[in-house]
Amino acid sequence: MRKSGYMPLIEALIKNKNKNTVAFHMPGHKKGRGVHRKFAGLMQSDPFAIDMTEIPGLDDLHNPVGPIKESQQQAARLFGADMTFFLVNGSTVGIHAALLSVCRSGEEILLPRDIHRSVVGACILAGLKPRYLPLELDEEFLVPYPPAPEEIAAMLEKHPLIRAVFQVYPSYYGLAGDLSQTAEVVHRHNIPLVVDEAHGAHFIFSDELPLTALQAGADISIQSTHKTLGAFTQASMLHVKSNIIDAGTVGRQLGILQTTSPSYLLMASLDAATGHMEGAGKKLVDKTMRTARYIREQISRIPGIKCFGESLSGTCGVTAIDPTKIYISFRGLELSGYQAAQMLLKKYRIQVEMSDRFSILCMLSVGTGADDGDKLIRALTEIAAKADPVGCQKTIPGPVYIPPPRVILTPKEAWFGTLRQVMFNEAVGEVAGELVAPYPPGIPLLCPGEMVTEETVNLISELKSLGCTFHGPGDPTLGTIKVVDSV
Ligand SMILES: Cc1ncc(COP(=O)(O)O)c(C=O)c1O
Repeated sequence: MRKSGYMPLIEALIKNKNKNTVAFHMPGHKKGRGVHRKFAGLMQSDPFAIDMTEIPGLDDLHNPVGPIKESQQQAARLFGADMTFFLVNGSTVGIHAALLSVCRSGEEILLPRDIHRSVVGACILAGLKPRYLPLELDEEFLVPYPPAPEEIAAMLEKHPLIRAVFQVYPSYYGLAGDLSQTAEVVHRHNIPLVVDEAHGAHFIFSDELPLTALQAGADISIQSTHKTLGAFTQASMLHVKSNIIDAGTVGRQLGILQTTSPSYLLMASLDAATGHMEGAGKKLVDKTMRTARYIREQISRIPGIKCFGESLSGTCGVTAIDPTKIYISFRGLELSGYQAAQMLLKKYRIQVEMSDRFSILCMLSVGTGADDGDKLIRALTEIAAKADPVGCQKTIPGPVYIPPPRVILTPKEAWFGTLRQVMFNEAVGEVAGELVAPYPPGIPLLCPGEMVTEETVNLISELKSLGCTFHGPGDPTLGTIKVVDSV
């Protein structure tokens, strides 16, 4: 029996801390290495003194007139927005608020298929009807290419009831499409462009990185400051710069979505990230870019291992890539990404951001040191030298492909329908009542309201057998799934 006072999460966190791993995952502060000295000092000396509530002098996120207002204004200036809102429930809440602001219930929104699961949540909350853009994957790495502006133009011509366009820029894998051209196309229809820029908060600090979403012409951009800059996990920003969308409308939606007890630790971390990057952003991001390029160059010399990206720039709708997202394939060694991630962790204490069938994703940020890069390069060199293709899994099943969905019901109709639980492998032909998204990255393979196809069942079953875990289903083992009985 456990002793009373046992704290399982605290124990797990201490255990994890003591492993002293090299962090190629979020959050971007990388265990405090990428934050302003003043903020780091405060967190080390007395974090309880910072965990405050709306007492005099500390302002109110829901009615900011003092330091929170000033800090949001400072962030707006830095990130090129007319108005910036601090978010205390990640970019997720920003995406919810944005979609509630740009469409009314029952209206159509144009989406790429490689959206984060939070977009599906937003469609449920706002009662939206998704229209999906076609999806094209890189043949070797199986990563989605950015949608072409011409495809967006064609969809807008064909479906005049679309009321807003949503784009993911950059993608989870660091690919950026031609967002300026997309903004032009979208604005010709006098509708807003909302951009999930969760992975692009650092773009403004380097000319070698893609344009920011706002620079490209987006009306709303949502950035996870905690992913690529130094804010605490969950701390994000929503920026508005628009002639179409009134910032007040977005504030109104955030008013019903965000807690009335926003954490001052999270808000302080946003303030600290802004202040830190205002002064040193360019220097810090330049250094991160140099580290990223060095790692990529060294990895490209290791036989059997390959880095995704830079050769794609200028092709397949990719205008630029973010070199700080290093997606590494082990196909040449006949290793799965899951196996490689296990080896890196067990033998070399390197924790990656994500692993999948063939690859791992390493995320760098302003908190990544050159020493971290050297450790990764050494570990990969050893793994490649010792890999015994015969001893490894010889055949990794065919490509991961996000099948084009057959949308039968809107996500909201399916979500609130009467649901029935069926065996997962007997669900073909049914309409999904829940979402299934490998996590990370949280890109759904199946959304509520979509027809379950044989292709999707086979793909999800294969991923499961390789060790993938999923967000969404009530039965996380996916032995069963909820389908729609009636609406
Ligand atoms: C592309 C993308 N958008 C949105 C989100 C949601 O961001 P957050 O975790 O800050 O809520 C994520 C999270 O991983 C993401 O990868």
